[in-house]
Amino acid sequence: MKTKAAVLYEANTPLVIEELDLDDPKEGEVLVKIGAAGICRSDWHFMAGEAKTALPAVLGHEGSGVVAEVGRGVTSVKPGDPVILSFVSRCGRCHFCTTGKPNLCDLHMATSTTMLDGTHRLHKGSTNYTPLSKLACFSQYSVTPETACVPCPTDLPMDKAAVIGCCVTTGVGAVVNAAEVKPGTTVAVVGCGGVGLNVLQGARLAGATRIIAVDINEGALEFAMQFGATHSVNPSQQDAEARVREITGGLGADYTFEVFGSGKTVEMAYNMARKGGTVTIVGIPPDGDDPSIDAVALVRQEKTLKGTYYGSAQLQVDMPRMVELYQTGRLNLDDLITRSYRLEDINEAYQDLNRGEVGRGVIMEF
Ligand SMILES: NC(=O)c1ccc[n+]([C@@H]2O[C@H](COP(=O)([O-])OP(=O)(O)OC[C@H]3O[C@@H](n4cnc5c(N)ncnc54)[C@H](O)[C@@H]3O)[C@@H](O)[C@H]2O)c1
Ligand SMILES: [Zn+2]
Ligand SMILES: [Zn+2]
Repeated sequence: MKTKAAVLYEANTPLVIEELDLDDPKEGEVLVKIGAAGICRSDWHFMAGEAKTALPAVLGHEGSGVVAEVGRGVTSVKPGDPVILSFVSRCGRCHFCTTGKPNLCDLHMATSTTMLDGTHRLHKGSTNYTPLSKLACFSQYSVTPETACVPCPTDLPMDKAAVIGCCVTTGVGAVVNAAEVKPGTTVAVVGCGGVGLNVLQGARLAGATRIIAVDINEGALEFAMQFGATHSVNPSQQDAEARVREITGGLGADYTFEVFGSGKTVEMAYNMARKGGTVTIVGIPPDGDDPSIDAVALVRQEKTLKGTYYGSAQLQVDMPRMVELYQTGRLNLDDLITRSYRLEDINEAYQDLNRGEVGRGVIMEF
């Protein structure tokens, strides 16, 4: 069949909207009609050449849709089912899948530019197109592995389902699964965009009492107050590390999160943590932009430095929990989504992200 998609041919050039050929789903795969796709900074890293993949590629890894057709052997979903798309497809057999860390599936990562069987479904002429994260949801239709499909309630709006597909699960999961924030503690969040806002509301949910939003964009800081922030700090206007220490009684925060993606902001999050504190890195710095961390201070101050991928989540279990938290009013996804676009306007959507428009943008028309 044909599908209209946004294609990245070369870094630092606009995405091109065009019609591609999409193969039928193979065994263990599903054809999904995309309902919504979020504008996440992780896609931008490829557009800006800050991260590399095989080009041409169809990006888009924060999505939702409705199952249109299933391949042989698919049992967990059927045509008509609404699904949240997972940007990691577990193989179910590797070390990580069998030890409770399916978000780190080896086969998924080893086949990062193709489907799990090493082949492509998107083509034009003799050219194969990389399906980012095996989702490629900046497209009308997508063929995904069955394990990328997480069934969701029919009354969950597609835009809410899409953001649960990345920024919500990543942000809330960073707090509850990776850092394991305890009630009554202090939290600082460096970078308060789509993912950072969910770290903030995850911290509120976990019972943190002082939740400090740190961002260079005043608009983002103001917006963050709706998502649980109790204090805001702008590093371009003040010594942010000193200010966080001041807010936390001279100690530094119990938990800090880096949610922009740069060596400098990783260092900032590291320095904002108290002795014995936990520093969790969510953002993905450009290739080669590494932080400088003093190993001796790490030892003497007994800090814990950790990364978290996809909210360290068990996706088939944690995503339905995010749905439940939204539907019972504990997670605010209504105000999180501030902009909607047509697929044709995707380059503008990324300009808005980089201009510092607050909240999350979502493509709703394909
Ligand atoms: N770990 C994961 O699994 C995972 C999943 C999704 C996204 N990410 C990464 O998380 C990061 C954030 O993604 P997003 O979609 O929320 O991006 P975003 O653009 O919506 O938000 C980034 C925020 O950081 C702020 N910022 C920029 N420079 C800053 C600075 N020097 N100090 C403080 N704040 C600064 C921006 O003003 C913005 O509010 C990206 O690197 C993305 O690739 C990681
Ligand atoms: Zn994302
Ligand atoms: Zn696996």
